[in-house]
Amino acid sequence: MILSSILAFAACSAPQVKPLDRNPLQSPDGTLELRADVLDGVPMYSLKHGQSDVILPSRLGYDLVGDIDLKDGFKLDDVSYSSFDETWTPVWGEEDHIRNRYNEMLLKLSREDGVRMNIRFRLYNDGLGFRYEFPMENKLTYFKVADELTEFALAGDHTAWWISGDYDTQEYNYYKSRLSEIRGINGADRPYNASQSYIGPTAVQTALQMKTDEGLYINLHEARVLDYSTTSLLLDDKKMVFRTALTPDAQGIKARLQAPCVSPWRTVQVCEKATDVLASRLILNLNDPCVLEDVSWIHPVKYMGVWWEMITGKTHWSYTSDFPSVKLGETDYSKAKPHGRHGANNENVRRYIDFAAANGFDALLIEGWNEGWEDWFGCQKEFVFDFITPYPDFDLPALNEYAHSKGMRLIMHHESSSSTVNYERWMEQAYTLMNQYGYDAVKSGYVGDIIPFGEHHYSQPLITHYHRAVVEAAKHHIMVNAHEAVRPTGLCRTWPNMIGNESAMGNEFRMDINPGHTCILPFTRLQGGPMDFTPGIFEQDMSITAPGETGKMRHTIGNQLGLYVTFYSPLQMAADLPENYARFMDAFQFIKDVAVDWDKSLYLEAEPGEYIVTARHPKLSTLNAGRLSGTSGAYDFVYAGGRPHDVWYVGGVCGENAHETTFKLDFLKPGVSYEATLYADAPDADYETNPQAYTITHSTVTSADVLTVRMARSGGFGLSLREK
Ligand code: NOJ
Ligand code: CA
Repeated sequence: MILSSILAFAACSAPQVKPLDRNPLQSPDGTLELRADVLDGVPMYSLKHGQSDVILPSRLGYDLVGDIDLKDGFKLDDVSYSSFDETWTPVWGEEDHIRNRYNEMLLKLSREDGVRMNIRFRLYNDGLGFRYEFPMENKLTYFKVADELTEFALAGDHTAWWISGDYDTQEYNYYKSRLSEIRGINGADRPYNASQSYIGPTAVQTALQMKTDEGLYINLHEARVLDYSTTSLLLDDKKMVFRTALTPDAQGIKARLQAPCVSPWRTVQVCEKATDVLASRLILNLNDPCVLEDVSWIHPVKYMGVWWEMITGKTHWSYTSDFPSVKLGETDYSKAKPHGRHGANNENVRRYIDFAAANGFDALLIEGWNEGWEDWFGCQKEFVFDFITPYPDFDLPALNEYAHSKGMRLIMHHESSSSTVNYERWMEQAYTLMNQYGYDAVKSGYVGDIIPFGEHHYSQPLITHYHRAVVEAAKHHIMVNAHEAVRPTGLCRTWPNMIGNESAMGNEFRMDINPGHTCILPFTRLQGGPMDFTPGIFEQDMSITAPGETGKMRHTIGNQLGLYVTFYSPLQMAADLPENYARFMDAFQFIKDVAVDWDKSLYLEAEPGEYIVTARHPKLSTLNAGRLSGTSGAYDFVYAGGRPHDVWYVGGVCGENAHETTFKLDFLKPGVSYEATLYADAPDADYETNPQAYTITHSTVTSADVLTVRMARSGGFGLSLREK
């Protein structure tokens, strides 16, 4: 099948478009070259890496609603060049400083009818960003986008790691195929999601990771999506040309714009090595600097949750079985008979607080604390939750006080049930309640089809809603982790209180998750910002976690440990139940010790879907920042015996095939002995037959050593290296 598709591509791929020969722009290191021009009235661009074509001449422009469109008739009025080089300090991140260095070219276009449109290109060593800009003095002041016509004409039938195009969800497994094979796979058998919208057989989502036959890694994504809709990509698989497929609003409009305004950045990341993809900060760099003056209240969080027990069906979010229908304010919960399986009850929450505090966690998430869960899913009603009224068995003030007395905070949960109108109605009161009791982080959620009806999770009004939630939260010094919201596009640089997002298939999809999924996400979903993947599921067998349930997740314990280093997130969960961790306390030690915020990250070995090995050095200044009092696990590990020990963590994960990795420890301080504690898959570990088999070994190493670690199928490892 692959061979036939290559032949088919060869037969039809000869580009008909003449090469662009004017207006070259080079990346600072000279490896990438962009050209852009107006040909026969149509704006075009192309991109090369050395002698290789990355993007063949591709058109730019818009189809607008109404008489005017932005397809052609343009002339090029001006081309200007500039260079930029800064180093900025993220509030949290994979490193303590990020270099933002690019060469820029601005094309100013106009038409005889008075329409003006500029296109700004920024060329970095690791890729291209470009966007449309509409100046104020323009014939177009208010305009509606029927379609953005941006194209990406690829120079080959590349291998791609993709998920199906959708206006509502990214909660899918990835496929790996040739571009020409997407149509054959992307059929009707898409897994169910509470809200989904099929775009077409050749539509895929960004970030789209590709690899050429010559071994070049090309990634298409977008950055800084604000006041605009999110795009999928639609492939013309005869020509290997992707076109943007913006998400329509309820009236079919793809974006409503008012000049002066800009589009999101369209990005083409180009890397020679897979590890360079993981090290790229292209998306963050294309976002605006932080707008918050005071960021002292923003901090990394390592947390547990009264959550997995609901996800697995052991307990419920709801409190009673008495009400087939709930109307908040009218339904009287005080007289309801509890069904006895409400997870967020005082006693159970205290049990979690005790366990999490004893093991040095910063916070505890509690879901199902508020009235309304008896009648929420799929009911399509606007008013499900008020976000301020606890169930009778959840003593909000007392539980916060109890958590605080142990140095921890509680994390609030706001399931909006995708009724954004209702959430916005209550938002101020909800955030104020959080302030009153000392919550400083919220997990929000957008399950089900969006209300107002007809809107999509990725349409412009929703992008505006998610952003409003983050901006309002910042006024209350609240950090936000939104589930089911749009996948991030680097906005956390500007609004660092956006500490997490789900927007992909995380551990809560349990048995559905394919081996290798976690080796793809860092190339795709995580390019735009951190993910609340909720790692750390030690018990794969659901019948043990939740009696009566069936199914086994497909990973080893070593794999789950490796995720804490592989997936960067300033908000990192230990997602399993306390009683499951209690059975594996020696392996749990790695989760307690590992940091969640870093001043240095090294990507040692990687290949999408196959394996990723990462080394990270903790940022000492934030080690204890999540704690109200007392010390965190990571702090205790680094500061054991009262003095700071230099510490590195290494994590590996692999996919369907076992993988042996060999790496040098030359990142350690020279001439210093480190105690290495390796939490690895046992020799007989295997995700299907023996997923809980691990070994813990201690040794003394120096920067001159080289380590070899074997990861089982869907396995992995965690390694801590501590100066002796
Ligand atoms: C979906 C979220 O992703 C999940 O984590 C949460 O528990 C449920 N919605 C309920 O809000
Ligand atoms: Ca979800």
